[in-house]
Amino acid sequence: MRTYVITGSASGIGLATATMLHARGDVVIGVDRHDAEVVADLSTEQGRQDMVRAVTERTDGHIDAVVANAGLATPTAATVAVNYYGAVATLEGLRPLLLRSPNPRAVATASMASLMPVDEQLERTLLDGTPTDALELAGKLEEAGGQTIYATTKRALARWIRRHAATADWAGAGIPLNAIAPGIIRTPMTAQMISTPEATASLLELVPMPLHGVAEPAACASLIGWLTSPENTHLCGQVVFIDGGSDVVLRGDSVW
Ligand SMILES: NC(=O)c1ccc[n+]([C@@H]2O[C@H](COP(=O)([O-])OP(=O)(O)OC[C@H]3O[C@@H](n4cnc5c(N)ncnc54)[C@H](O)[C@@H]3O)[C@@H](O)[C@H]2O)c1
Repeated sequence: MRTYVITGSASGIGLATATMLHARGDVVIGVDRHDAEVVADLSTEQGRQDMVRAVTERTDGHIDAVVANAGLATPTAATVAVNYYGAVATLEGLRPLLLRSPNPRAVATASMASLMPVDEQLERTLLDGTPTDALELAGKLEEAGGQTIYATTKRALARWIRRHAATADWAGAGIPLNAIAPGIIRTPMTAQMISTPEATASLLELVPMPLHGVAEPAACASLIGWLTSPENTHLCGQVVFIDGGSDVVLRGDSVW
């Protein structure tokens, strides 16, 4: 029996993952703004600290896996706060609790949207600047419509994973750190975008999914389940696209 912390556990991919792990007999500590074992707002520094404290108290400082999955898809600065800073703080804040596990694992939920146009200044500021600067810039982008915000948060998160996975803190401590990059998944986040066959068809033109089309959240849950299982001994810093083929359609053999 393993102990998992999953953020964004009240809905969609996080809920499907929590449900699968419960059914398997694992202990799940869900983190969300509502309907969770630990209720916390990961868009704020205070909320992130409260989350780490609450998880530490509930687990006696010992967990086996972290799934940093909570996210927003609005064209707002709040999306930057949750998708990037919330995910990084979840991984960094809970990493010490993984160190007593015989098989510690960590996964973040990025997105195939990381392949879409991004705001390069925001991406640079997220990776190398300060949260104050990044959130100020995000506020300006929000006022201008915020269309690139979501993709930028996901690209920066995927790059954060690539930067850290092989370091002493992660690989050196025996913790596989990876990400999943879903295509279009049927969750409350996408409900409106796929509410009619016409809307779905036009979204699939942007995000081509020749393999089976729009996916159910259980598909992501299975992948997260494997990435966070003891069976995963050697995946390090991989961003695994679970996207029905959009990555190969858009990038072909330019990455390998
Ligand atoms: N659905 C898709 O097509 C899709 C595709 C690619 C990536 N993703 C990513 O998958 C992850 C899960 O998304 P989903 O589709 O299950 O969406 P969802 O909206 O169903 O679930 C997201 C959960 O995150 C929680 N959350 C949001 N802000 C939070 C905050 N400040 N503090 C704590 N919890 C917060 C929400 O309350 C919600 O329960 C997100 O990171 C999303 O960006 C989704």
